[in-house]
Amino acid sequence: MFPKSLPGRIGFGVTLLALLAAVALFTWQRLGGGGQEAIGEAAIGGPFELVDHTGKPVTDQDFRGRYMLIYFGFTYCPDVCPTSLATMARGLEALDERAPEKAAAVTPIFITVDPERDDVEAMAGYVEHFHDRMIGLTGSLAQTTAAAKEYRVYFSKVVEEGAEGAQDYLMDHSSFIYLMGPDGRYVTHFSHQSTVEEVAEGLEKRVQP
Ligand code: NI
Repeated sequence: MFPKSLPGRIGFGVTLLALLAAVALFTWQRLGGGGQEAIGEAAIGGPFELVDHTGKPVTDQDFRGRYMLIYFGFTYCPDVCPTSLATMARGLEALDERAPEKAAAVTPIFITVDPERDDVEAMAGYVEHFHDRMIGLTGSLAQTTAAAKEYRVYFSKVVEEGAEGAQDYLMDHSSFIYLMGPDGRYVTHFSHQSTVEEVAEGLEKRVQP
């Protein structure tokens, strides 16, 4: 679809540049550039209807009065998800040593973006590796997609050609650890590169049980 005439090429180039500039600006704003962080963050979080790792239906309302430390990912994730969940769990443990009443007010939650493979059983076997109070949430694809959308979490399936033509896939996804307050509203977030100490310190500062 590359135009052959010179004016056509210039026009094509200008359109492409304008498009790239728009994407860059959008990304910059999403990442909190230009001091707009507060506006973007205010929109994070919302209602969800999912199923926990014991098979019990849960909604966001079930967590009112408690802080939720939420991470979206999938159990087949080779690196980023386990690292993030471990940081989340170790951070909460570190907080527990300093301020047990604060740690007790926080529920660590892992929500899958891959419900096709992450059923209740898979979630149960997974979350127990990280923290004894961690809650794994799954549901129908429509339910987990709706939850991810409320939290502005991006995800997409990346299909890979495996051995002998077998198809395998990974989920590409954004990777933030959200701290939500007792009223269900956004408080702060950590990145998957945050350290255990940063998580512990951030929670100690923000959690007021
Ligand atoms: Ni992951």
